[in-house]
Amino acid sequence: MILLDGKKTSADIKEEIALDVLDLKNQDKKTPHLAAIIVGNDGASLTYVNAKVKACDRVGFESSLIRLSEETTEEELLNEIAILNIDNDIDGFIVQLPLPDHIDEQKVLMAVNPDKDVDGFHPTNVGKMALNLPTFISATPFGILELLDRYNVETSGKNVVVIGRSHIVGSPMSILLAQKRKIGNATVTLTHSRTKNLKEITLQADIIIAALGIPEFLKADMVKDNVTVIDVGITRVADSSKKRGFRLVGDVAFNEVSEKSAFITPVPGGVGPMTIAMLLKNTLLACKRNDL
Ligand code: GUN
Repeated sequence: MILLDGKKTSADIKEEIALDVLDLKNQDKKTPHLAAIIVGNDGASLTYVNAKVKACDRVGFESSLIRLSEETTEEELLNEIAILNIDNDIDGFIVQLPLPDHIDEQKVLMAVNPDKDVDGFHPTNVGKMALNLPTFISATPFGILELLDRYNVETSGKNVVVIGRSHIVGSPMSILLAQKRKIGNATVTLTHSRTKNLKEITLQADIIIAALGIPEFLKADMVKDNVTVIDVGITRVADSSKKRGFRLVGDVAFNEVSEKSAFITPVPGGVGPMTIAMLLKNTLLACKRNDL
């Protein structure tokens, strides 16, 4: 079994990006600048956003964190977005999800200038992604492609089973892996909560992407020998033995599934760190595009 080490791989990518930033600086070009908007005080979301800002510092990007209260209205949020859309110093920005219930998420994502949409969530960018045109690929699917690429996991002609049809991970992942691209050309099955006989389907899989958000859902009896497993789940499960009161659990029963796996991502330290590295990559791309 080979561990797909997202922590190490993301550190490698960040080093590459830092060198690129030095190059830009040496050529008197613009330093990439990422902004993040977060609404409310959700602990997990704050942790993620802070990690994104910290990662910017480490590679030499500028960053801005815009914290808005839980009571922020949709109109106020749209106003903040309008300001970032026309601020020439900001190359890319994200609105951390989920948003409070009184705000229409789709309306917010549609308001982001597609050229600054480094999350790749705007319908224009999702459409380009689906057509295999150059665009910002969302950080999580992009990170998974990169991890498979750097570990030379063969995808061409393989049976890939994606579990979970979210807009952020499952759906784009299934589209990308079926495309004619270096990490692609797979025969993809997208499964979800209404899928019948899931186990029969996962037992045929050469590669499984688990992105449904149910801790330890994928068990050893659901996979064949030498499977490659990508675990996107990251659920906080109460654990009084931990100082912070919880531990992070993936969608895969790691101990038993890893025994049958050729490659597998750990949780934490697998897909999670990759998403941050790819967000930085998208921001670098946005900056270079803006500075042509
Ligand atoms: N919430 C969970 N994942 C993401 C992500 O990739 N981007 C944003 N903006 N919010 C998220």
